[in-house]
Amino acid sequence: MQRLHESLIQQGLTSELQQLILTLAECGVEISRLVRGGALAGVLGVAETENVQGETQKKLDIIANDLIKQKLAANPLVKGIASEEETEVVAANGNGQYLVCFDPLDGSSNIDINSLVGTIFSVLPAPEGEVNEQAFMQPGTRQNCACYMLYGPATVMAMTTGQGTRMYSLDPDSDEFILVEERVEVPAETGEFAINMSNQRFWQAPMQRYIADLVQGKEGPRGRNFNMRWIAAMVGDVHRVLSRGGLFTYPQDTKNPTKPFKLRLMYEANPMSFLVEQAGGKASTGYERIMEIQPDQIHQRVAVILGSKDEVDTCLRYHSEG
Ligand code: AHG
Ligand code: MN
Ligand code: MN
Ligand code: MN
Repeated sequence: MQRLHESLIQQGLTSELQQLILTLAECGVEISRLVRGGALAGVLGVAETENVQGETQKKLDIIANDLIKQKLAANPLVKGIASEEETEVVAANGNGQYLVCFDPLDGSSNIDINSLVGTIFSVLPAPEGEVNEQAFMQPGTRQNCACYMLYGPATVMAMTTGQGTRMYSLDPDSDEFILVEERVEVPAETGEFAINMSNQRFWQAPMQRYIADLVQGKEGPRGRNFNMRWIAAMVGDVHRVLSRGGLFTYPQDTKNPTKPFKLRLMYEANPMSFLVEQAGGKASTGYERIMEIQPDQIHQRVAVILGSKDEVDTCLRYHSEG
């Protein structure tokens, strides 16, 4: 049995990166406790506020955000933070060497139905000089670490520092993350996909054709049946992909003409792409590798197609055909 801190030592990470990851894990332990408390912890329901994305915030969005902000600010290694729930990036410790982007609570709409939610982190190296939005504008290939915590029947953490993807499970007795899978591998082929089908009429032509062929099953050009799963929390859907393969997508749509994409590059798409690629999967917008996008805004959104490599490649072929 290997505890998180032992596994970080074994990976040969710098003591700075080890310490930072332990702080991220602590955030996960505390949010996990709050989530488990549910109505009794007074964390359910909506707040009166709206975030920069135009979403009504849930109480837990704000509680998790404040908790992470405090923990990160107290770690001298953190120079700046960016969060889904913060309009601007926030400066932390001048001498810190890391920038941390996070989605404090992913899957907010699941909170009140007692379904899956999680937290997503992306760690970037901090450049010299001031902490401003520009400092964060680094492609996902520069990430030092990506991880998510999923507050499911068990609380788990998937983590990568670029040496494969590891899975940990939270021991509820000791409040410690224990390594449960040293090398997560996403199978190249899959018979499972995840997409919000209610947006079908708003997708672009390539996604329309790809999904239409999948749902035709055995009788269609794919010659086999596919199964559909949708958790409505990216952490849940990506966790399924890491656990048994699959294709997860949130494609471009025209439902809201001012918002063609749903998922945010810096604290959703990039960290999840890193975790999936490090487990042998693939992550693309349909036209380019997500982690190679040069960002220009902290809250920018992208199309996401990720998961089992061969199935992502098949989906990309529909895109290259226009
Ligand atoms: P968040 O709760 O952090 O705002 O993110 C929600 C995202 C993502 O987790 C999920 O894949 C997607 O929204 C769900 O979208 P639908 O509302 O279309 O199901
Ligand atoms: Mn949100
Ligand atoms: Mn999210
Ligand atoms: Mn969120």
